[in-house]
Amino acid sequence: MSKRFIVGNWKMHNTISQAETLIRDILSDYQPNPSVELAVAPPYVALPSVARLLASSTMTLAAQNVYAKDEGAYTGEVSPPMLKELGCQYVIIGHSERRHIFGESDQNINEKIHAALHHGLHPIFCIGERLEERESGQTHSVIQNQLQAGLSGLEPKDLKNVTIAYEPVWAIGTGKAATVDQATEIHAVIRSTLTTHWSLDPEQITILYGGSVTADNAQTLFQSPQINGALVGKACLNSESFVKIAECAGLDL
Ligand code: 13P
Repeated sequence: MSKRFIVGNWKMHNTISQAETLIRDILSDYQPNPSVELAVAPPYVALPSVARLLASSTMTLAAQNVYAKDEGAYTGEVSPPMLKELGCQYVIIGHSERRHIFGESDQNINEKIHAALHHGLHPIFCIGERLEERESGQTHSVIQNQLQAGLSGLEPKDLKNVTIAYEPVWAIGTGKAATVDQATEIHAVIRSTLTTHWSLDPEQITILYGGSVTADNAQTLFQSPQINGALVGKACLNSESFVKIAECAGLDL
């Protein structure tokens, strides 16, 4: 693996002015490392100001969601061309909060992934099991089903533009990250599912871990060759902890 990828998912945090302050802090605290790609996913309304501030940096921009249509009577939604024009390179799709709070189905997620790719946006496709699914021994089948449903109809060439984020639901916002062994096991399942069904080169697949990643546990997680980076929630809302995670990602590459 040549590069690690760290994405900060701000969720519904930071007004425009707060977003500008956080980005300025990150830009002044972080010494870019060519072995690490650092991206931020602010709320929609802050995307234009964050894009302007990132223009002369190496950091990249992600959206937290997208709708699957180009335009039309879809009140409250945002299309892939709108995000593209704002300078987004990535879009998070299928986050567990979208699935569980907003009722997004595997089919919605699959349509969004197709639409994003069609417009040259790279999906960061989130999957993960709930606690009761893990406790009843269903983790592997849940992960395989989410992968097959979310990526249905994609060609291997499309998959090269998709990043997978394994985010066990029980680890999100709970302070209980998966252990490196737990994450490594599931990342291996994801990699083998993608290589088997889409004949991909395992080295070309980027799989992030997400769920209570902190400046304290990042280095341990990154020791696993299966873990190509992190999708960070709470710890990305503070420049110091986000930059520390990014620095851990660059340590041994
Ligand atoms: P936390 O890092 O706050 O657990 O959130 C993880 C997440 O959902 C990132 O998308």
